[in-house]
Amino acid sequence: MPSYAVIGASRGIGLEFASRSETVIFAVVRNPEGSTHLRDVAASFTNVHVISGDVVDYSSLECATKQVSQVTGGKLDYLIHNAANLDVNTVFKGFDDYANMEELDSAFISAYKINSLGPIHAVTAFLPLLRASNTKKIVDIGSGAEDSKSTRALRLSKTVAYAMIKAAALLAATKFAVKLQDEGFVVVTLSPGMVDCSATAGADSKALADSLKEFSSSVKKNTGLEVTPQTPEESVAAQLKVIDGLEPSHNGLFLQHTGGEYRPRS
Ligand SMILES: NC(=O)c1ccc[n+]([C@@H]2O[C@H](COP(=O)([O-])OP(=O)(O)OC[C@H]3O[C@@H](n4cnc5c(N)ncnc54)[C@H](OP(=O)(O)O)[C@@H]3O)[C@@H](O)[C@H]2O)c1
Repeated sequence: MPSYAVIGASRGIGLEFASRSETVIFAVVRNPEGSTHLRDVAASFTNVHVISGDVVDYSSLECATKQVSQVTGGKLDYLIHNAANLDVNTVFKGFDDYANMEELDSAFISAYKINSLGPIHAVTAFLPLLRASNTKKIVDIGSGAEDSKSTRALRLSKTVAYAMIKAAALLAATKFAVKLQDEGFVVVTLSPGMVDCSATAGADSKALADSLKEFSSSVKKNTGLEVTPQTPEESVAAQLKVIDGLEPSHNGLFLQHTGGEYRPRS
């Protein structure tokens, strides 16, 4: 069975990636005890290993790789970097929604550590195991928010920290793609589309569902476009088809869950 490490697998899209019986899954989470949805999954699937790791703490990821290595004999086929900070209370903020510049700076720096340095930490930590496999696939879960054409097409002036920092992560993935190309790696960024993850958002569930509705109506009002969120199941099923079909020609691309290179709605 192929092996996948899913970084940030406690809930939402990552949880769905981890909920599979036909592969060996290493579900890396920063709080294994508190990841109740994932613990339920691991109780049903013996192939799902819950492993501790926080993407802002590089040494915790190095420890995670040791645990993976013990199960796989030193290899890993696929790395799916999904972890990100999408705190519903802050993620939709625009430049004017911070109390002052100090608050804005602090929010950006804290998000940068998770959403941009996080994937660099995860790829670097798992690289020795990925190099030992013949598969050599790295998928960073991206977002349409990080695309400048989408920003214009959907008139998205808000979600500033999230969008700018995910854009930095997109470039980081491209840098890894170029760096690792001659070793036979395929490194891509993959957009999941808009996904309603409120069902596993715990106390933020209602606020997240309301924010997604508000976001969809504001896009509709500004552009006339209908944006309907998918379920995590729908999005991940589509993403897995893209991941299963990855080829060397995809290396370095920003792909969309429906296949092909990411392109904004119009
Ligand atoms: N949902 C969408 O519509 C959408 C659209 C475009 C792109 N995306 C992308 O898809 C990915 C998943 O989004 P989602 O909606 O599923 O988000 P989510 O439900 O908020 O889940 C985020 C995941 O990241 C984990 N995480 C956060 N900080 C972490 C850290 N320091 N170390 C390890 N794990 C950490 C969370 O763990 P905890 O439970 O410990 O917080 C959680 O498992 C993200 O990369 C996001 O940018 C989502």
